[in-house]
Amino acid sequence: MIREWRLLFWVCLAINSVVEAQNPLGLRASSALRGILFGTAANVNNLRKDVDGGQYNSFIKKNYHVIEPENDFKPMKLWHGINNYNWSNCDWLLGATTNSTGWAQQNGMQIRGHTLVWANDKNIPNWLLKQESSISSEKVKSLMYDYIHAVVGRYRGKVPWWDVVNEAIDDSKNNSRPFNLRDNFWYRKLGPDFVKYAFIFAQQADPQAKLYYNDYNNEDMGTKATRGFEMLKWVRSQGATVHGIGMQWHIRVSKNVKFADQHYQNAQRLIDNSFEFMVTELDVAIQINDGNPRDPNDVEKQGLLYRSILKYVLYFSPKCRALITWGFTDRYSWVPAFYNGTEGAALPIDWNYQPKLAYWQMQEELARVLPNGNYRLSPEYPPNKCLGVYDNNITRSVIQLYDDGCNTPNKKWTITWLNHGTYRLSPVSTSVHALSTYNTTASIGEVKINNSLFDINQEWVFSSYGKNLFRIRPRSAWWRALSVYGTTNVGIIDFINGDNKRWTVTSI
Ligand SMILES: *[C@@H]1O[C@H](CO)[C@@H](O)[C@H](O)[C@H]1NC(C)=O
Ligand SMILES: *[C@@H]1O[C@H](CO)[C@@H](O)[C@H](O)[C@H]1NC(C)=O
Ligand SMILES: *[C@@H]1O[C@H](CO)[C@@H](O)[C@H](O)[C@H]1NC(C)=O
Ligand SMILES: *[C@@H]1O[C@H](CO)[C@@H](O)[C@H](O)[C@H]1NC(C)=O
Ligand SMILES: *[C@@H]1O[C@H](CO)[C@@H](O)[C@H](O)[C@H]1NC(C)=O
Ligand SMILES: *[C@@H]1O[C@H](CO)[C@@H](O)[C@H](O)[C@H]1NC(C)=O
Ligand SMILES: *[C@@H]1O[C@H](CO)[C@@H](O)[C@H](O)[C@H]1NC(C)=O
Repeated sequence: MIREWRLLFWVCLAINSVVEAQNPLGLRASSALRGILFGTAANVNNLRKDVDGGQYNSFIKKNYHVIEPENDFKPMKLWHGINNYNWSNCDWLLGATTNSTGWAQQNGMQIRGHTLVWANDKNIPNWLLKQESSISSEKVKSLMYDYIHAVVGRYRGKVPWWDVVNEAIDDSKNNSRPFNLRDNFWYRKLGPDFVKYAFIFAQQADPQAKLYYNDYNNEDMGTKATRGFEMLKWVRSQGATVHGIGMQWHIRVSKNVKFADQHYQNAQRLIDNSFEFMVTELDVAIQINDGNPRDPNDVEKQGLLYRSILKYVLYFSPKCRALITWGFTDRYSWVPAFYNGTEGAALPIDWNYQPKLAYWQMQEELARVLPNGNYRLSPEYPPNKCLGVYDNNITRSVIQLYDDGCNTPNKKWTITWLNHGTYRLSPVSTSVHALSTYNTTASIGEVKINNSLFDINQEWVFSSYGKNLFRIRPRSAWWRALSVYGTTNVGIIDFINGDNKRWTVTSI
């Protein structure tokens, strides 16, 4: 099961490689190599306008696989009356007809649909609320049917995950309603069955889509998480399909997430009951004054907290499918307005598109798979050989395989982590040179050493295959791999499974 899923993943990567080639490594590549998806909420108007001199769109393309449109799929935006929809932004994103594409497909992005039924009067279209006293429950049910079929049906096959129901449960106080459901239009007209109907209609409209319930403060083992969990088990017992649970993770920097704690227990409870899950709206608010963090230590804590949530996602992958943040740059974040300017700076990228500690912490967690040091590099096949440089003194010297015991300095490599997700490899015999690619797009790309320019062509991505086994990939073509061809030649070759493309990296 897992193997098949990974295979599918690689097929998707291959399709996306054209997009990737234009960009240096980011979270997108690093997370792909760890088998998880990274995503962000995005404002479709920003995408359409290509705001901030293109920085908004290009940052998204470099770092994410998944976009969750922040508002455009919400009923308040989309549903203007009976049979009256505004498809403008959603069509731009996904294409208006079955066979047409939009910005998302053209840029290798997957869309998470958010959200079909937002169970809170504040988020239900006013024209509908106004009819509450005059329409029957049957009519309300048929309106829900029409809406879900119209939206999900229009983008059938194009939206892999839908938040079918959002924020249906009251936060704390016990109320008299089942599962502590919120008092809202859908509940008042249909009772708790409204949740069940939403999932049934969504599945009818797109049987391939994964159907989620999404909420906040449901990340631990608290009452709210348990009520949601019990509600979804009930929905299933009524014959409807629920695939997963979205946990929003709108949190503050004071939160702690540690292995085996309540958050892990909650995730395990979901897995034990055949639910998949995702982190759907992560941001980590810190106290601010005039937009700036009050305490610089909070920025560091925030970085570590982002990292610990990423560790949790990696631990539960593939049952935990994705890590999605609610936006990526502090320039467009809901947090400061919500907290009246007292909290903010909640995202991994600052106002000016500069990565913060949180970004680097996540990059390191994803991509730093071995410590700095000196190593010998041996291909899995042919056996008993190692990688060395033919002539230390010549720039563009040949790199080849040796089988003479591999003890001389030209057959040992100093491997150094470079913060943004890559490594440099220098022969121990000549630290001013580094392993370098020359033509990564050729059917067999060249590999030589080059003197200490230390540019993008000398940056390598390591992905771990357990024990000391790695694939070693050029940053500029990270979906390909350093590989043996012929008997002793080494080059950059397309990714196909094979033991000539994996290297045992032995510390010396
Ligand atoms: C439909 O949505 C687009 C994009 O948000 C907006 O520009 C347009 O004014 C909307 N049309 C109507 C009739 O509301
Ligand atoms: C969409 O493409 C399929 C397969 O190419 C074709 O059979 C179908 O007629 C197309 N539909 C429309 C609406 O163009
Ligand atoms: C709310 O109900 C739960 C059981 O459903 C109970 O354990 C808890 O004490 C109640 N809390 C309050 C504040 O009444
Ligand atoms: C922000 O200010 C408004 C108006 O004064 C108040 O109603 C609201 O509770 C405040 N929000 C927070 C998070 O403090
Ligand atoms: C490398 O070249 C330098 C000067 O060009 C020379 O002094 C040195 O002996 C050479 N070393 C080797 C191992 O050939
Ligand atoms: C890179 O490889 C391609 C395809 O083999 C070839 O056409 C091109 O000339 C090469 N470029 C360089 C700089 O070697
Ligand atoms: C070293 O590599 C850089 C590209 O990274 C290239 O521009 C330069 O020509 C190379 N140097 C030699 C001597 O080949």
